[in-house]
Amino acid sequence: NKRRSLVVGNWKMNGDRSLVEKIQSQFSQASLANMDWAICPPAAYLGLFDSKTPLGAQNVSQFDSGAHTGELSVSIVKDLGCQYVIVGHSERREDNFESDEVVALKVEKILAAGLTPILCVGEPESVRDAGTVFEYLTKQLDAVVTLVGISAFANIVLAYEPIWAIGTGKTASPAQAQDVHGFIRGYLANLDSNIAAGTTILYGGSVKGSNAKELFSQADVDGGLIGGASLNPEDFLSICLAAN
Ligand code: G3H
Repeated sequence: NKRRSLVVGNWKMNGDRSLVEKIQSQFSQASLANMDWAICPPAAYLGLFDSKTPLGAQNVSQFDSGAHTGELSVSIVKDLGCQYVIVGHSERREDNFESDEVVALKVEKILAAGLTPILCVGEPESVRDAGTVFEYLTKQLDAVVTLVGISAFANIVLAYEPIWAIGTGKTASPAQAQDVHGFIRGYLANLDSNIAAGTTILYGGSVKGSNAKELFSQADVDGGLIGGASLNPEDFLSICLAAN
């Protein structure tokens, strides 16, 4: 029995007020009863959405409050209506030097606030070429499991994003995605098989309307984390419909 599908649009540092309006009008007529979806706009736009749009933040601080200029706490993003927080995206690991340990601290904060972390993992091309993808992902996952424990994964969404497929137009093939998603579920199953069976694992990396259906039909692919295509409301809706 497959898990309920989830499709999340990550606008990254893109979009404007008019895209907020367009996405809301595109989705107001849509019937998406059999899947969940959410938008993660730039944080500055979170407050512009109506309450019908499920929202997520793209990042959050590992600290509760205080002297951390430019940061947003989990309580702030929760106050702005977020249900989800993306954490450990490869762009933040790279641009902001976020280590596996910092990512784990953020996951802990997000869970404590009752929000759902969308925990991103994924390898660079050099690691794929070296044939050490599973070892690389194990290290990323171990850091979080060590801090929050396997039972916390009942409330965590995972996203597998091979870095070489992000924004490149070079999607992982459905077989490549399934291979890694199967590995991740197996990693979790080694620790707790019930948790593993229930964990939502998204694929991210150049998902479009034209390849979504085949990716989402893989046994361990439960939906997608969509970058570029989420900036076009029609494309993003077609990807959501592929998961419905
Ligand atoms: O968070 C989204 C991913 O990084 C995928 O981005 O769909 O533009 O390749 P993309």
